[in-house]
Formats: sequence, structure tokens, C-alpha cells
Amino acid sequence: MKVVVNKSILSNCKNNNSSLKYKNITYDRVIMNTKSDTLKNKETFKEIPFNKPYLTGNETNYIQKAVSSGQLSGNGIYTKQCQHFFEERYGFKKTLLTTSCTTALEMCAMLLDIKPEDEVIIPSYTFVSTALAFFRQGAKIVFADSEVETPNIDVNKIEELITSKTKAIVVVHYAGVAVDMDKVMALSKKYNIKVVEDSAQAVESFYKGQPLGGIGHLGTFSFHETKNVISGEGGLLVVNDDELIERAEIIWEKGTNRASFFRGEIDKYTWVDTGSSFLPSETVAGFLYAQLENIDKIQAKRIWNWNKYYNGLKLIENKIKLPFIPDYATSNGHMFYLITKSVDERTELINFLKQKNIHSVFHYLCLHESPFYLKSNSKVDLPQSELYTSRLLRLPMYYDLKSAEIDRVINAVIEFYRN
Ligand SMILES: Cc1ncc(COP(=O)(O)O)c(C=O)c1O
Repeated sequence: MKVVVNKSILSNCKNNNSSLKYKNITYDRVIMNTKSDTLKNKETFKEIPFNKPYLTGNETNYIQKAVSSGQLSGNGIYTKQCQHFFEERYGFKKTLLTTSCTTALEMCAMLLDIKPEDEVIIPSYTFVSTALAFFRQGAKIVFADSEVETPNIDVNKIEELITSKTKAIVVVHYAGVAVDMDKVMALSKKYNIKVVEDSAQAVESFYKGQPLGGIGHLGTFSFHETKNVISGEGGLLVVNDDELIERAEIIWEKGTNRASFFRGEIDKYTWVDTGSSFLPSETVAGFLYAQLENIDKIQAKRIWNWNKYYNGLKLIENKIKLPFIPDYATSNGHMFYLITKSVDERTELINFLKQKNIHSVFHYLCLHESPFYLKSNSKVDLPQSELYTSRLLRLPMYYDLKSAEIDRVINAVIEFYRN
């Protein structure tokens, strides 16, 4: 199941220095030069939002082409081109474009035949969809804690949660930084449990050279407008397990063998299994394709932003905790977060930045403390998940963020800690 990736893709993915080069794209080619990037006075108080969707310029062209082609429904030319892109670039065996990462996760739950009484191990520090997709199939969700170094699931605490009812382990590569997948896959083998990689934030990120989403039995991605490559709403299912490929296509096509019919393998199609309408329309796929064509340029700039934040904020490393990238992982510049010393300090910092027109936001509220979960489960103690819930803060991060704007954010954070 191991996917090997072209080594050149990996160059400069590490974020330990402020390299101005990502693959063959230099910083100057992807963003404005430093002179025009210097903030004018009137811009020094301009709002810096948390996120700003980036448009490559070709999105409406491709939407127009999809409209003129006469096929607006799913599984047309752009859907196939997007899927081909992921299969070629990352060596994924089979990919299916979906309407969101949430629906790709729902497909995983159906594909793994999750039934009432089955247990699924999921990190508590994640988005609701990671758990909801499996809950809807009737699974008992068993929440795992995060590790100390990163908000990822603590792989050393998974084994104690495994029982004879455990059907799947779902990991989340938080901020696009890999979970230690060798340890997870070893448990999968030992106990015969399937692994799903929720790679919602992890496009173009790697674990020991392997693209995330391609290591577990199944992987999912999100193209929500907050992600590195976007289509408004959108997602992808990656099927790495040969045995699941045929059924994945059926579930994707509303429980029918329609995809096989269109390939001319059968002479009529009919209802053969469970499923739903998981395909996005061609207009969405066309939008996404315009983004994928520019993935190197987008990644170069986001990684540059990430490095600039990291190097700038290193100066106050004794006051805040900065993101940690383990040796086996890369960062894809999806997110820049910091960890404050307390929830009050985080609230004060958010307000301080707001006064300077800088929009920073916290992230997940750990799911084991959610009202929905507590309605039918008693409270468990997951201290690291609770820590990230109350102390993690995300700084503005998007393609168009100017160098001088990052300076403004860094200076504001430093000023806060100087006071
Ligand atoms: C870890 C994780 N999984 C799943 C999702 C859901 O993604 P989507 O909005 O594409 O359904 C998100 C949303 O950001 C997420 O952070």
C-alpha cells in the first residue's frame, strides 16, 4: 500500500529555514517584489483577514467550458482531469472527487461497513465531520487524546483503546503535519483494523516521503475555501486498498454500477449497494482544476509565509510555543498556529490583534466535551485535546498575504508579549 513519490516534489517542503525557493519557483516570481510590498502608511491599519480565497484566474474559464460542453453533472472531463492529477502526482491508486471532505468521510464509513456496536478510534481534537461520518453509521466513537508536541492523535495511546469491537482508526494530519503513520499502520496490521487518513488540511504534505492520504486504506481531502487548493466546497476520496475500489465507485454513484456501465463493462446499470449522491458537478471540478494547475505556485507562497512567521516569532519562543514539525513530516503551509500559556492569554492576544485590525482565530472545540457527545457519554479526561482547544491560536494565512502584512502580524504579537 506504500505510495512512492517523485523525490523532486519533496524538495524544500521542510520549513526549518526561510528558503526563497520551492521546487523551481522562486519567491519573486510568485509574489510582488519587496519594494511594491512595502506597506504605504494608509495600509498599516488595513484589515488583515484570517483567510482570503485565492483565484488563479482560470476558474471562470473552466466553468464556462463546462457549461458549453453540455455536461454539467458529475464525472465529466474536469472530474476525470482532477482525479488524474491526484493519481499521477501522488501515485494514489484510485481517487473520486466528492462534494466535500465530510462526504468523503461518509463514504469511508459506508465502505468499511461500519455498523452499530462497532468502535472507531478518532482524535477528539478535530472537526465534527471526522466523527460524525462514522457516528451516522451507528458507530461508537472512542476519542483519543492529542500528543504533546503537536495537536495530532497520540499514537502511543491508541493501542490501549483497541478492543475486539474496534473497526477503524481515523487519524487527522493537523495543519498538514503528518501523524507517525508507521506506528498506526503497525497497529492496523497487528489487530486487522482499517485506517482512514483525514487529510482535509494535508494536500501536498508527506510522511517519510509518502504523500499523506496515500498511506492508510482510505484517505480524504477538503477543498473548502479555507484550504490550500479550493473549489468553494469540495473533497476527494483516496482508495488505497484494492479490495475497496470497485465498491467505492458504486457508493459514489448512488449505489449503482453506473460508472462501470459508462466504461462499457456492462450493458445496463442498476441498484447494487448502499450509497448516495457524492459527485460534485463539472462546474465545481472545473474550478478545482484551475487551482490544481497552480498548486506549485500556491504552495511556494504559503510555505514562504509559514517560514516568515516561524523565523519572526522564534524571537519570543520563550513566551509562546511554535508549531513543531517532526523529522518524518513536512509542512504544507496550510496553517500557522501558536500555543499561548492560558486561555485568558489567548483571548487577550486575539483582542489585542483585533484592535490592530488583524483577525486571528482559535480552532476546534474538542469533541469529547461537545454537548452532543455528552448527551449519551460520560466525560473522559483528554488533557492535551483540552489544552489545544483552549490555547491554540491561528494567525492569518493565505496566498495573497503580503510580506509586510506578515511583518505587521509578527510585530503585533511581539508587542503584545513585550507589554
Ligand atoms: C480535519 C477535518 N476534517 C474534515 C473537515 C471537513 O471538510 P469539508 O468542509 O470539506 O467537509 C474539516 C474541515 O475543515 C477538517 O478540518
